[in-house]
Amino acid sequence: MTLLITGANGRLGSQIAQRISDATLRLVDLPELDISDFDAVQRYFAVHRPSTVIHCAAWTDVDGCATDPQRAVRMNGLGTGNLAVACATVGAEMLYISTNEVFDGTRTDRPYWEYDTPNPINPYGYSKYVGEQELVRVLPRHYIVRTAWLFAHGGKNFVHSILRAVQSGKDLRVVTDEIANPTYTNDLAEAVLQLLNTKRYGTYHLVNEGQASRWEFARYILDQAGYSHTPITPITSEEWQRASRPPAHGGLMNVSANHLGITLRSWQSAVDAFLQADGNLSHD
Ligand SMILES: NC(=O)c1ccc[n+]([C@@H]2O[C@H](COP(=O)([O-])OP(=O)(O)OC[C@H]3O[C@@H](n4cnc5c(N)ncnc54)[C@H](OP(=O)(O)O)[C@@H]3O)[C@@H](O)[C@H]2O)c1
Repeated sequence: MTLLITGANGRLGSQIAQRISDATLRLVDLPELDISDFDAVQRYFAVHRPSTVIHCAAWTDVDGCATDPQRAVRMNGLGTGNLAVACATVGAEMLYISTNEVFDGTRTDRPYWEYDTPNPINPYGYSKYVGEQELVRVLPRHYIVRTAWLFAHGGKNFVHSILRAVQSGKDLRVVTDEIANPTYTNDLAEAVLQLLNTKRYGTYHLVNEGQASRWEFARYILDQAGYSHTPITPITSEEWQRASRPPAHGGLMNVSANHLGITLRSWQSAVDAFLQADGNLSHD
């Protein structure tokens, strides 16, 4: 078996790679392979002939995608299609990492389940949903794994942004009307590998349990890191201008994975573990 991870230098891809010691593991990222180049992907697969692909590569700059939607579709949507065709050619299965942003966020009675109907409201979500459809169209042996609000050691992430802001004395203003699931890349990486072992192809949500608004997420981080007296001004997304409009109620529930016995801890426990590993957990 040859396992290939795309986006292997990214937040999630690098975490998954760290957990695999197999000598046949192949890691790929830009500039070695641009997944939006159909011929390059075909050539790469003809040489390396993976049997399993964990596809983490994506243009994840959500606001960038909003300013160049066609590029977003080329990278995230058609790029995933290119990989799916190449997988079909060499007989490989694929696990594709998708996003909660395929949903429109209007569902308020419960978090989204796997077979609720996607309806993306921004170009990033649209491009990721194109990727899902390409994969379903081309390759039966696939997993679609939707996740949300990743925080990882290294790289840009919300936990470090909030801590850096408070440490530099900035006033904190955080939105209350964007809700999803803060998810620790370490936990997601473990769950992805468990899922791959099941051979139960299909669509899955994998997030840390529970959901929160951005404001609640930020409040929890500060409380646990010893800044419980630092105020955070609650604002609405109207007051936080950005190019992309996220789904308001974008929370996911891991219904299908739970049926397979794959569970993730609560997002609060995951934040504690992250802060502990970083040396930022307060012992007050
Ligand atoms: N981060 C989140 O909060 C979040 C939430 C939900 C879902 N997801 C999904 O989870 C997956 C992993 O996210 P992540 O946060 O680990 O992403 P990341 O840190 O941005 O890593 C993505 C990697 O893909 C590479 N890449 C971009 N375009 C490429 C192309 N055309 N060909 C080959 N490689 C390319 C990037 O290279 P460069 O850095 O050089 O561009 C980067 O190394 C993505 O599919 C993302 O859509 C992420």
